[in-house]
Formats: sequence, C-alpha cells, structure tokens
Amino acid sequence: MWGGRFAAQPADAMQAINASIDVDKRLWREDIEGSKVHAGMLAAQGIITQEDNAAIQAGLDQIAAEILAGRFEFSAQLEDIHLNIEARLTERIGEAGKRLHTARSRNDQVATDFKLWTMRAARETGDGLRTLQKALLSRAEAHAEWIMPGFTHLQTAQPITLGHHLLAYISMFERDRVRLISGALEAAWECPLGAAALAGTSYPIDRERTAAALGFHEPAHNSLDAVGSRDFALAALANLAIAATHLSRLAEEIVLWTSPQFGFARLSDAWSTGSSIMPQKRNPDAAELIRAKAARIGADFAALNTIVQKLPLAYAKDLQEDKALTFSAFDGFALSLTAMIGMIETMRFEREAMRAAAARGYSTATDLADWLVRELQIPFREAHEITGKIVRRAEESGVAELGLLPLSDFQAVDPRISEAARALLTVEKSVESRDSYGGTAPLRVREQVERWKEMFK
Ligand code: ARG
Repeated sequence: MWGGRFAAQPADAMQAINASIDVDKRLWREDIEGSKVHAGMLAAQGIITQEDNAAIQAGLDQIAAEILAGRFEFSAQLEDIHLNIEARLTERIGEAGKRLHTARSRNDQVATDFKLWTMRAARETGDGLRTLQKALLSRAEAHAEWIMPGFTHLQTAQPITLGHHLLAYISMFERDRVRLISGALEAAWECPLGAAALAGTSYPIDRERTAAALGFHEPAHNSLDAVGSRDFALAALANLAIAATHLSRLAEEIVLWTSPQFGFARLSDAWSTGSSIMPQKRNPDAAELIRAKAARIGADFAALNTIVQKLPLAYAKDLQEDKALTFSAFDGFALSLTAMIGMIETMRFEREAMRAAAARGYSTATDLADWLVRELQIPFREAHEITGKIVRRAEESGVAELGLLPLSDFQAVDPRISEAARALLTVEKSVESRDSYGGTAPLRVREQVERWKEMFK
C-alpha cells in the first residue's frame, strides 16, 4: 500500500516488528464505522461522487459481515487493520475503494478508531463495576449485623460489622466507575479524524460533520495534537490501574479471610483450587491472580506513559504499541472482575469465627475508655491510661476478653468502674454504639444499604 518509492521488499523481521494486525484487528468495528462516516462526508462535500460513496458503504458493510462470520483473511503483509480493510475494499469494489483514503491518513484514522474503542471499553468496564457493586450490596445486606474484627496495622482494632466492611468496597468501586465514565466523556470531546497525517488537509472536508456522526462533541482543534496525543488512553489505563488496585485489596482480604488461620470465609468449590500434593488444600488462586493482574495493569499504564513521554510531535510508530498495552489491561481487568463477582456471590462467611476473632485482642478497650469519659467526666487521655492498665491485668491473668474480667479487677485499677461499664464491653454493644453517620452500627449499615439500593435503581 506504500511500496511505490521502494525497489526492494522489506526484510522479514522488518515486517514482523512493523505489523500490528494480530493486535489491532480488534479495532475493525471502529475502523469500518470511521471509514463509513469519512466516505459519507467526502461525498457530501463533493470530494468523491455519490456513486463511489454508495459502493464504499456497501463494500464496508460486506467486509463487516465477512469479519463477523470469520471469513476475512487478515494479512501481516498489509500491516494493520486499516490497510487490511482498505485493501479488501478495493478488491471487492475496485476503483472506488482507492478513493476512500482521500483527505485522510492512517494517523488520524488510528487515533480516532482507538479513541472510540477506549471510550467504549471504559463505559463497559463501568457497567461491570456496577455488577460487582450489586453483588457486594446483596452480601452486605444479608450480613449487616454480623460481627468481625476491624483492623488497623492488621492488628485487631475495634469490632465492626461485615456489612460495613463490604460497603467500603462499594464506595471505592463507585469512585472507580465515575472516573472511568468521566474519562470516556472527556475523550468524547475532540475528534481526531480530519487531522490527516499531521498538518490537516487541502481538501474542503467537513470536520464538524464527521465529529458529530462519530459521537464526538467537536473536531480536535489542533491537527498535531489530534494525531500525536494518547492521553485518553493514559487516563483510561490510570483509572483502570486504580480500580485494579481496589480489586486487588479485596482479593488480598479474601486470601486472608479464607486461610485456616483466619477462617472467616470459605470460597465455593467453583472458585477454589486444589493442590496436586496436599489433598486438604482449598486455594484461593483466583484472588491471588487478581492481585497479580493489578500489578500488570499498573505496569501497562507505566509502559504507555513512558512511550509517550519522549515522543516529539506528532505521530511516531512507538504509538502503535499503545493498543497491545491497553487491550491487555482491559482484558485482564474484565477477567478479574468476573472472577471477583463469582467469588463474592458464592463465598460463605463464618459467623462464629469472625465474632470470636472480634472479641479477642481486647477490641472493646476503647468502649471502656469512652465510658469513663462519658460517665465520670475523666479526660480521654486519663481514661486511656486507666483502660490500658486494665488491659494489662487481663493479659496477665490470661483472660482473653475484657468483658470476661471480674469486676474486682476493674475496681482494683479504678474503684469508680461499675458493673454497668463492664456490661458494655461486648462486641455487640460495641458496634451498636458506633452509630455516627457512616459508622459501623447495624442501623447505619442498613441506612447505607438503602441509599445504595436507591442509587442502583
Ligand atoms: N498501525 C499504526 C498504529 O497503530 C497505524 C498508523 C500508522 N501510521 C503510519 N504513518 N505508519 O499506530
């Protein structure tokens, strides 16, 4: 397609390093869509005839049908999806096919195709996140008052409710969803098509028309920027990397919770794997792979960012690698999402183990300090000191929970402590008391469950 000025064929390895068809064939829908709009505009502007346009439209529709049916032969000699489709078009309709590339370059063509693909993928990923949120919500609702330990530094901190813990991820994924969708909206602002190779074109094209027909807000205002920029893909990858980080944290918790040492949860058979040597094992491989995929998605962002940061304007072939990175990031994310939804929907939580763990580690110590402040008007720092001494006493006498320590031990530290204070030191009373807005009390958890339900309608 570009051999006119050469006397010899490219080296085999030249072709191998240059061809991108194996990767960018996924852009075929966008490429055909863009070409149809471009040809329609050329005809409307009198740059090509209506007859040629009609032949091009029909030919492109037939090619779409061939690709869908798996009858299209992709060729590495034709480098990429753009040349593959154009060559096939000319094969089918003759002369008219050769006129399609008027007032266009593969540079504005690929920027447009890839932008359309990325916008669509970001929106679909947002929808996928919503599905995960719904799965989390239904588990959160069913476990609104189940008690588990809340951690800081992975040390038992205060009792919390499982519903509360699951709702935290719904909030995180909501921000991820909004970032992805806003990125797609931002990308939809400027249409690269019509920038041609880098400088614009001398043909009287109508860029407003093509931009609108492809769903963009307006034509890109600078042709160099239009063909040389990939920040729409960088933004999508960065947003995806953040979302993957959140998936990975949830995956990490699943790994911890399902280990026999925690015993908080059990994955369904469908989402567990066995060991070829240790018959008792139920491994959380999918959760582990979600963690690893998040690392790769972050690396995909870093790779593309590094590619773009040292390119002089405008287009350079380095940019061809943008698609492999972006496709692989979206594929990895989609698979992670499906696996996470499957695990969340089917895992079983172990109420007793979680409650028992929540009670260990003197998790209600803050509740005692708060009682001293509330009932005896003791300054919090002092109450902290008194409670600390009681914790030490419990530890020394081998009593695992503060509420199980005899009242005499409390009173040995401070005689003003009453049975009423001791009675507050259960994990149930503790979570119920944390009823500030957004807090862990079952009442507040149910309130948030209702809020999300309303939002998801
Ligand atoms: N396959 C190329 C890419 O993905 C298309 C643009 C090629 N442009 C060029 N002048 N060689 O970046």
